[in-house]
Amino acid sequence: MKNKGNFFYITTPIYYVNDVPHIGHAYSTVSADILARFKRLSGFNVLFLTGTDEHGLKIEKEALSRGIFPKELADNVHIKFKELFNSLDISYDRFIRTTDEDHIKTVQKVFSELISKGDIYLSDYEGWYCTPCETFLTEKSLLNGNCPECGRPVERIKEKSYFLRLKKYEEKLLKYIDENPDFIKPSFRKNEVVSFIKEGLNDLSVSRTSFKWGIPVSGDDEHIIYVWFDALINYLTGAGYLNYRRDDGYDTENDLTDAGVNADANADNENNFINYFDNLHHIIGKDILKFHTVYWPIMLLALDIPLPKTVFAHGWWLMDGKKMSKSLGNVVNPVEIINTYGEDPLRYYLMREVTFGLDGDFTLKNFITRYNSELANDLGNLVSRLLAMLRKYRNGVVPMSSEINTDLIANALNLRDSLDKRYENFEFSKILEDAFLFINKINKYINDSAPWKIDVNNETENKFLDSVLRSSVISVYYVSYFIYPFMPGTSDKINFMLNVKRFSDGGKFLVPDDVFKEGFKISDESVMLFPRLNISGSKNQG
Ligand code: MSP
Repeated sequence: MKNKGNFFYITTPIYYVNDVPHIGHAYSTVSADILARFKRLSGFNVLFLTGTDEHGLKIEKEALSRGIFPKELADNVHIKFKELFNSLDISYDRFIRTTDEDHIKTVQKVFSELISKGDIYLSDYEGWYCTPCETFLTEKSLLNGNCPECGRPVERIKEKSYFLRLKKYEEKLLKYIDENPDFIKPSFRKNEVVSFIKEGLNDLSVSRTSFKWGIPVSGDDEHIIYVWFDALINYLTGAGYLNYRRDDGYDTENDLTDAGVNADANADNENNFINYFDNLHHIIGKDILKFHTVYWPIMLLALDIPLPKTVFAHGWWLMDGKKMSKSLGNVVNPVEIINTYGEDPLRYYLMREVTFGLDGDFTLKNFITRYNSELANDLGNLVSRLLAMLRKYRNGVVPMSSEINTDLIANALNLRDSLDKRYENFEFSKILEDAFLFINKINKYINDSAPWKIDVNNETENKFLDSVLRSSVISVYYVSYFIYPFMPGTSDKINFMLNVKRFSDGGKFLVPDDVFKEGFKISDESVMLFPRLNISGSKNQG
């Protein structure tokens, strides 16, 4: 049963559809998936949202260069993201597209509401614009006349525009940041945001008239809504904002069904919009921190909606020490890696290799080393030899024993008790590090106990064998639980072989003694977890 009192809302950035997904996109999404899976397993009512950002000049220009309509480009490219996320085993509840009907309606509604409240007003805009970043820039923020973020040339624009009042909310936002130390994470990112706000916020231009690919302002369709304003609202759409504020005769049921939105998920959202917003966490890349910790909270303050609990900015992946770029031809393609090595090793590597929040360097050599030594050797061998011993010595029946190894169990319990805090702090690599220390402790315990040397005809030794086998099986069940959010497929395989319900099928982690009761038999079948790789990366046959 879902615990109706506990809600957890986790989001990724929505990805631009001007190009196919790369490793950075996989990264944000895998990390959010890990949290979603852990929280579900802990009994939370989880809403996990990801999707694509499909409007704006950048997309329009890309479509033009390919000789197709922007919507066609979005239709083609968004599929690539969906395919990637499916092959990465991402358990999103909704894949939102900013061209979805309910999103368009939400954006228009929010825009009109803010006009009525006086927080959006019409005026003139003249200034600089960076198209690749879809960002308005002030004269003084330019670096040698170029965009301070990406270094590329900027365009001068002059047009009528709607503006969002930012100044009005400066103090409230600073107060929120000050009173909520967990709002901006990692904490070392807080200063850059606070100083940006303290320099004084200029009202933000939130509409454009110079191109067409965007959501029109209702009643003034010469203007299309600024792509970042549009994009940030996806978090409102996904939680069911239209249902929450359906005071305008909006026909929820029909309109949302037309928009292809799952009716059940929607019924859930109908009542739960605020519950989800009360426990909202965003995972983003460090480059889009300002949008999520300045503009977005101000939009929410203006709408009188609770602000996110956390905005976690992760670092960037480099490839062999260099920034990934199309022109350098060094963009890591996650699809190729998954096809060659499987999705769990990629998920594992991304989360284990660097502390979440810092930049990382993707090298195939390190990837393969971790695969062979940690996944194939430490984890894969542990599981296969333990199950083989259980079959050989006990016909697959998990023996009972009153002598469980207390050291192993104490370690498992400590680890279990550390999880809530560690996940709350996004300490993914630490969780894996601890889990693999535990795995190696089990390996050492088995090696030291050397069950293969035991004389099964000797009663004392036979009892010792019961103890080793039972202690190890219980420990491996813990391992399966610890790794589940990171490597759901691998945990599923272990649970299948242990003959216990898979966590991905709604199985809960149970007290091991309630699972492995007298006469409990593991499965007769074995599944290979991680075939060994040779250094060039191809899987060894046989
Ligand atoms: N569409 C906006 C986000 C709108 S959210 C309301 C956007 N899209 S993006 O496709 O350009 O980037 C999406 C995310 O991918 C960003 O969080 C960005 O930090 C991340 N990454 C892009 N390249 C990356 C790496 N090389 N490494 C890690 N993450 C990187 O911004």
